Amino acid sequence: MNIAAEPTLSLVGPGRAGTTIALALMANGYRVVGVAGRSIDAQSTQDAAAICGAHARFVSDVGIGASAVIIATPDQAVASVASAIAATLEPNSLVLHLAGSLTLSVFDNLVSQRSDIRVASLHPLQTMPSISEGLDRLPRSFAAIDGDPEVETIAELLELRPLRVAPIDRARYHASAVVASNHVVALLGQVERLAASAGVPFEALRPLVEASVENAFSMGPSAALTGPVARGDFKTVEAHLRALDPGERDAYRSLAREAARLVERRGDGLERLFKDLGNFDG
Ligand SMILES: NC(=O)c1ccc[n+]([C@@H]2O[C@H](COP(=O)([O-])OP(=O)(O)OC[C@H]3O[C@@H](n4cnc5c(N)ncnc54)[C@H](OP(=O)(O)O)[C@@H]3O)[C@@H](O)[C@H]2O)c1
Repeated sequence: MNIAAEPTLSLVGPGRAGTTIALALMANGYRVVGVAGRSIDAQSTQDAAAICGAHARFVSDVGIGASAVIIATPDQAVASVASAIAATLEPNSLVLHLAGSLTLSVFDNLVSQRSDIRVASLHPLQTMPSISEGLDRLPRSFAAIDGDPEVETIAELLELRPLRVAPIDRARYHASAVVASNHVVALLGQVERLAASAGVPFEALRPLVEASVENAFSMGPSAALTGPVARGDFKTVEAHLRALDPGERDAYRSLAREAARLVERRGDGLERLFKDLGNFDG
């Protein structure tokens, strides 16, 4: 196969991220030649193959005719999929995973079998809850990349802004992404519950949330912090803890501690004061 003639792509893991990336690469000159999923007749496999104009294949055959193979399964399946596709990969093809939590060591077994292929990772720092939202949001998002230099070309095609993250930093990098996305959403779940308990619609908090996020990025989190912890109004914090449902107190207290930590960076010593409230349980 002449890989330089036409970039061709196969996808293993026809879910939200993989199908989004495959479609975005199709829009930039790639032809999708194969799609494999949990099984060849799974609905997701059939649907993604149809959208990509490709054949549904067995995982073991997915490398045939592909200059690049994207593995976009759940993270715990990446290593076994990589081993399963080893035999059919084209020489010099690129195998790419999308998992923020994994380094390239997940490909160790594959590389030991096939020294003639290349490996890389590309983790979009973006949430793709559906294919259409993923396609809208990928351009201008950042992406952690590692491995073969072709991944930089792929990131550019997708209009992603690449960041090289060293393997030793990978777990902390991914933790930052999880906090930025999942934990912020979980916190908004608490906002919704507390607002509802006071008869206030969740939507009423939107301008406050959006302005606070904007301020944190424009001024830095420490300068952006306002409210009772920043002012040292610990009677107010105590009143909140008393008023809250006990099931809401741990999260409130943990984040109030984090707020105190931010302010202490400016030397106010509020973390010390806040410790007095740490044992509040009534
Ligand atoms: N979605 C995001 O926002 C996002 C962002 C950045 C990176 N990522 C990364 O992208 C990867 C995929 O995540 P996702 O959110 O797209 O997950 P997803 O929507 O759940 O898709 C995973 C797909 O893999 C298939 N699959 C599961 N086990 C498989 C196996 N052993 N062999 C072949 N296919 C298998 C699933 O099949 P079924 O359809 O039959 O379940 C599903 O189609 C992960 O590494 C994730 O960390 C995701």
